Amino acid sequence: MTHQPLLPRPGSGRRAAGVLLAAATLLGAALPASAARAEPATGPDAAAAARTPRYLDPRLPTAERVRDLLGRMTLEEKIGQMTQAERGSVDADPTRIAALNLGSLLSGGGSTPTPNTPAAWADMVDGYQRQALTTRLHIPLLYGVDSVHGHGNLAGATVFPHNIGMGATRDPGLVAEEEHITATETRATGPQWVFAPCVCVTRDERWGRAYESFGENPALVSRMTTAVDGFQGTRRSDLARPDRVLATVKHFAGDGDTTYGTSTTGDYRIDRGVTVTSHRRFDAVDLAPYVTAVQAHHVGSIMPSYSSVQWTDVPGSGPVRMSASKELLTDVLKRKIGFDGFLISDWDAITELPGDFATQVRTSVNAGMDMFMQPYDAPQFEQALSAEVQAGRVPMSRIDDAVSRILRAKFDLGLFEHPYTDRTNIDSVGSSAHRAVARRAVAESQVLLKNDHHALPLAPSQRIYVAGVNADDLGNQAGGWTLTWQGQSGNTAFPGTTILQGIRNAAPNVTYSADAAAPTTGYDVGIVVIGETPYAEGLGDVGVGGHTLELSTTDRANIDRVCSAISTCIVLDVAGRPQIVTGQLPAADAFVMSWLPGSEGDGVADVLFGKRPFTGRLPVTWPRSEAQEPINIGDPQYDPLFPYGFGLTTRGRTTSAQLG
Ligand code: GLC
Repeated sequence: MTHQPLLPRPGSGRRAAGVLLAAATLLGAALPASAARAEPATGPDAAAAARTPRYLDPRLPTAERVRDLLGRMTLEEKIGQMTQAERGSVDADPTRIAALNLGSLLSGGGSTPTPNTPAAWADMVDGYQRQALTTRLHIPLLYGVDSVHGHGNLAGATVFPHNIGMGATRDPGLVAEEEHITATETRATGPQWVFAPCVCVTRDERWGRAYESFGENPALVSRMTTAVDGFQGTRRSDLARPDRVLATVKHFAGDGDTTYGTSTTGDYRIDRGVTVTSHRRFDAVDLAPYVTAVQAHHVGSIMPSYSSVQWTDVPGSGPVRMSASKELLTDVLKRKIGFDGFLISDWDAITELPGDFATQVRTSVNAGMDMFMQPYDAPQFEQALSAEVQAGRVPMSRIDDAVSRILRAKFDLGLFEHPYTDRTNIDSVGSSAHRAVARRAVAESQVLLKNDHHALPLAPSQRIYVAGVNADDLGNQAGGWTLTWQGQSGNTAFPGTTILQGIRNAAPNVTYSADAAAPTTGYDVGIVVIGETPYAEGLGDVGVGGHTLELSTTDRANIDRVCSAISTCIVLDVAGRPQIVTGQLPAADAFVMSWLPGSEGDGVADVLFGKRPFTGRLPVTWPRSEAQEPINIGDPQYDPLFPYGFGLTTRGRTTSAQLG
């Protein structure tokens, strides 16, 4: 049953307040004109104000508005708020949004409008919002997207280095600046909620999501939770601003600390596996960043992990999926740590729990999950949960707690007053100012691991030979979660500068030969760019789809050919994790880890040519061999190729080592 109140054309932004006034009128409560301006009601307005639905009155405290609205909602409306669907499941018939009382939609990786432009994104989200506002209580929609290194789904957005590179910068202020830009580009194009930052602590680089982590040291990851401030601002009132979004720290918890070979998802090896640990070690390694994110940065949302935990200090305990752990979701996170936001399940995550669907739903809701990412089975989820509540197996108090948490976020985001996209900043998407910050981030993320004979910095006058596919491939230097879920090789999907273009912008005499087939005589410097092609999640696990930490045959051949022929040889690694270079390192005079720098290849050239100094430091341990994994700072018999925290700095012609 839906009502058709007067609704503005989407994109009307500020005029939307009038919409809700009109909606309130339809609810039998003529809102005084003054309510739109949130001025105190006087005279005849006082009577009208007395009849205003309290939840539509922006002058009231959020807690009161939540209480009032909750008291008006039916069970179906409440369950609808707990349900998130993929936009693809309603795009053909957007009226399903109201029919299902959906509280949220998401764009999964690659789920984009056509054309994939800022305006089309804002129009798309506003179109869905208009449908949501036709519901009886006109509760606005939350729209979520994975802006994990910039608004990566949007062509033309600024694409920042993935978190592993941001961890190498050791610059929490820069991370906050990155996420403020990302929030600006995301909110201006519609989504008010990002499933970022990942505060996973990567302990085994054979994990396909290692690059989504700021590093292996929980203290470093905790320092980088300034990302939440970048997204949300530092005051609750900031969330309503057009340059802020609701953040989500993920994946709670221990997703990067699972044991290789324990995954039961498809042919994954370690992603979604089992974290075998004691409570004490779990708190120190996996939980710590969440405590900071909640208590220091007041993160508004948390996404539990697909992975499981198995307690070594609880005899006989088996693995418990995070989405089913009442101990961790409710007792620890909500009660002990004080998390007052809401929990969003991962994509279909509850279907990996034991039992039939009704059991999976009941188990996760009762464990403390608040909203459910049910991309294509939202109706079935709603029916199952309704049946569980009516059978008394899920208490209404749990439903009310979940819905209250979700509504509070919507009020804080200002969505009841301004449900449509505020496009004030839409022209800033991919702006030169934003790209300049990303370029600085790329430069600060570069880690110089070897620099014999002062090979670096380069001089623009040098004759330079560049080899390797990853020298000239935007898709490879951006990695996964870029325009599509898995990412893709090539230079056509989005604008940016490749590393080769950056080198050519810095020096006039550059020859490029991807396979090093061109003659190598007559050059002062050879640069060989090695690395990986894009992947995401368990599809990037070592052992899946041919993934390994070893170098490809082509990369080894390029190093052999170029470094044996040209007197000064520099190797760059464009990858989401350390690769095994032990055998090739002696051939190189200099070795740089570039990680996944994103759209601004110029930032790599800036440090290669000394426009900026190398300052980056390893956020993870660099193994001598794949067999050494997992290997982390603090391990006994710690004998890596390069230790956690290592990085050479260059000041002019001086190179010095640093650790930490
Ligand atoms: C994925 C990821 C999660 C992401 C979500 C929505 O499976 O695990 O990080 O936020 O689905 O795309």
